[in-house]
Amino acid sequence: MAVYRTHTTGPEAEHALGLLVPHGTQQLPSQTAGVAGIFHMAGITDDLLAVEQLLLERSRSRSALISAASAHTVRSGGKRLRAALALLAARLGNYRLEWVIHPAASAELIHAASLVHDDLVDQAARRRGRVTVHTRWDNDVALMVGDYFFALAAGEMALSPDPRIITFYAQAVQTIVEGELSPVTHITPLETALAQYYYKTGAKTAVLFEAACKAGMVAGQGSEAEITALGRYGHDLGTAFQIVDDVLDFVGDEHTLGKPAGNDLRQGTITLPLIYAVAAGSSPELHAIIEQSQPDETTVRQAIEEVIALGGVNRAMEEARRLIVRAIDHLAIFPPSAAHRALIDLAHFVIERDI
Ligand code: FPP
Ligand code: MG
Repeated sequence: MAVYRTHTTGPEAEHALGLLVPHGTQQLPSQTAGVAGIFHMAGITDDLLAVEQLLLERSRSRSALISAASAHTVRSGGKRLRAALALLAARLGNYRLEWVIHPAASAELIHAASLVHDDLVDQAARRRGRVTVHTRWDNDVALMVGDYFFALAAGEMALSPDPRIITFYAQAVQTIVEGELSPVTHITPLETALAQYYYKTGAKTAVLFEAACKAGMVAGQGSEAEITALGRYGHDLGTAFQIVDDVLDFVGDEHTLGKPAGNDLRQGTITLPLIYAVAAGSSPELHAIIEQSQPDETTVRQAIEEVIALGGVNRAMEEARRLIVRAIDHLAIFPPSAAHRALIDLAHFVIERDI
């Protein structure tokens, strides 16, 4: 018996998924309400709550420490885009929640594992407005909790209806790890910088979007052509998502983002807005910050202004929009449906979001 049938969706899951439920009285950022509306219109809100409940149940461990740190991570929420993509992909085909709930949960568990480890590597103090696991506990706990989530993801894959789903996620994790260890080292020449940036972005973000879409389509008994098309949609969507993430690091509001803005510059991480700004013209302020290992806050603020003034943010957003148009084109083989509409709306959300 599939585990999701054994529980009802409780207030805990609904609370964790405040993002998903457009409560009339709740003060939600407009973008969050937007994504909740998309899920609602596609009729997947209850099924996403079932995924959330599954994540909460799975995060219970014999170890009180692991239970606490896992629950802390799951409850910090997120938009659950990867789970939603798996559900929506399955809805394009032959939809049964018991077939797709485990692949959907796998995507979120892999994502959670990667973020706990990433925050440890980056020594980030906050994510989504909450203190990170290594800060609340310590580095060892963060390492173990990431591993624990990864093992939970493997368990969900094993419950999935088709072994191809295990292959998609296993390959995605291999690529994520490779991407994490592939920094963008060159800011010029432009071609080299772009090649390095797109390799890293594809590896660290787009492949998991792609795998979640393909896994959902397999769970929905899609054809090879449909699985391929959805995978391409996911890859373009994921790349655009990461570009917007990198743009928000320059223009986002710290309170809305739930993490400090300007972090990439502070840590010397080269992203698309910076690459395009440097390609647009030489700026002494920008070169000064690129050469500094620990820039002060005034320098970071000046560099952000320079990147915006040189058109780096606008050009990066143009690129994100180009990818979103291409992502939507991949959906052309599917007939109109509520899920098809939601996938198009999600693509628009990705470039309009401020979270
Ligand atoms: C976020 O990048 C990082 C990732 C999406 C991938 C991190 C991957 C690992 C740490 C490898 C381990 C993987 C698994 C599956 C256990 P970022 O630092 O640019 O973004 P941020 O601002 O959200 O932190
Ligand atoms: Mg990070």
